[in-house]
Formats: sequence, structure tokens, C-alpha cells
Amino acid sequence: MISNEHHEHASSTGPTSPSAVTVDPPKVNDYNSFAEAYTAENETNLINAHYERPAMLALAGDVAGRRILDAGCGSGPLSAALRDRGALVSGFDASAGMLELARRRLGDGTDLQVADLGSPLPYADDTFDDVVASLVLHYLEDWGPALAELRRVLKPGGRLIASVDHPFAINLMHRQAGREADYKYFDTTNWTEEWTMGGQTALMSFWHRPLHAMVEAFTGAGFRIMVISEPEPDPAARELFPEVIAAKPRFLCFLFFVLQAD
Ligand SMILES: C[S@@+](CC[C@H](N)C(=O)[O-])C[C@H]1O[C@@H](n2cnc3c(N)ncnc32)[C@H](O)[C@@H]1O
Repeated sequence: MISNEHHEHASSTGPTSPSAVTVDPPKVNDYNSFAEAYTAENETNLINAHYERPAMLALAGDVAGRRILDAGCGSGPLSAALRDRGALVSGFDASAGMLELARRRLGDGTDLQVADLGSPLPYADDTFDDVVASLVLHYLEDWGPALAELRRVLKPGGRLIASVDHPFAINLMHRQAGREADYKYFDTTNWTEEWTMGGQTALMSFWHRPLHAMVEAFTGAGFRIMVISEPEPDPAARELFPEVIAAKPRFLCFLFFVLQAD
């Protein structure tokens, strides 16, 4: 395993434990508070810029003329790359701060909306040729409502292209930290860690989900699995991160799916 998005920034803290004293719970996954710092890092680092994003673009293939929804678009780097390749892109994200950066990148004319994956989405049925969902599904405990909505807004035969934390990588991380009793591979479990970015610390909360549960969620929502991918990093990574890539030319980090709406 290589440091993934999480471990690159932070040390894992394990599950958040209940406290006897009632205090305001710490805000989790507060992308508004570190939108600029996250965006700067995501722009150039190994795992987003030279691994995850190139893999998503390769899986998407020729997107010229396709209408694509970027679910959990963040500050819009994937949207921008898809648009450069001729796609007509819409995006949504739960974080207004991230969307503000996306608006700056993509321009006021781009359809960008604050919306929550898991709740009803502000798009008509059968609108999009593709949905891309980069590193967002693992924030959700229940994928059912989210996938049903993504299926609804896709045209029949449309594709959902998704990347998520690789469940083996997360399980390996817990094992290496001696926490396998609390985080069994076959359980869908919440885990938290702290990210330090731009000089500030943020508490992040994720859902580990075993591979079979991912497959069941996709097929149960009316998707056919076309591709499961564990890609290599972009060739440029060899020059940009020579020591890391020399040590680990391939690594467990994210898992990628191409799904087709039945
Ligand atoms: C790891 S970032 C990835 C951003 C972008 N997809 C990229 O690859 O650069 C995860 C994004 O998912 C968004 N997010 C998390 N939970 C969400 C939800 N329930 N609905 C919509 N967006 C969500 C966050 O605000 C954040 O922008």
C-alpha cells in the first residue's frame, strides 16, 4: 500500500468515541474550512493529479459531446479536464466553499449546484450520458439512495464512473495499526482520521465497505458492472515522484468502477 489520500495528510485516529461530557461535536468533513488548501494539494500531488484523475479520464475515454454530471465535483479539476475534452459538464457538491472554487475555475456560466449526494438531486430524469463520482461515495454510509438518484438522472445505457477508497487498502491500514478487531473487513464501518492541510487540522469521517457490498449496491441500484480497475499511476508520475514510484510502481489506493445503467 502507498499513502493514500487520507494517510498522506494525516494520522488515523480510529473511531470517534462517545464522551461523558456533552460538548459540541467536532465538525467532520468540513471541506469549506480547507477548500483552498485541499484544492492546491489535489492539483499537483501523486494520488489525485497523477493517479486518480488520469485513471478516471482514461476510463471515461472519448467524451466529446457527452453530457456529464460530476457528483461531488469539489473545486472542479475533473470537470475542467472533461470539458477540455469536449464534454458538457454539470457539477454538484455538498460544500459551498469547494463549489466557489469550482465556479472560479469553470466560470459563472457552468451549471454548478450545492446538493447532497444521498438526497434528491436537482436534475430531471434521463439527463446525463455519464456521471463521474470521484472519491465521494466513501463519505456515505448508505449508497442506496445516492445510487438510485444517479441512476435516475442518467439516460438508459448511461455510465457511472466512480472511484472510491480501495477496501483492501483501508483494511490493510487498520491491520497495520493493530485495529483489525474494531474494523473487520466484512463489516461496513465508519472510521475517522485527522487531515492537516494549510496549517490546520480537520476531522474526516469515512465509510469502509467490503467489495461484495459495493457490488451489491451497484447491481441493486440497476447498474451493470462493465469494468473494475486497479490502474497504474500516470507515466508522468515516474519523473515527478521518482523515489515513490521506484519503490512502488503499483500500489493499492483507490478502486475504480465503470457501471452501465440498465
Ligand atoms: C475527496 S474530495 C474529491 C473532490 C473531487 N471529486 C475531486 O476529485 O477533486 C470529496 C468531495 O466530496 C464532497 N462530498 C462529500 N460528501 C458529499 C455529499 N454527501 N454530497 C455531495 N458532495 C459530497 C466534498 O465536499 C468534497 O468536495
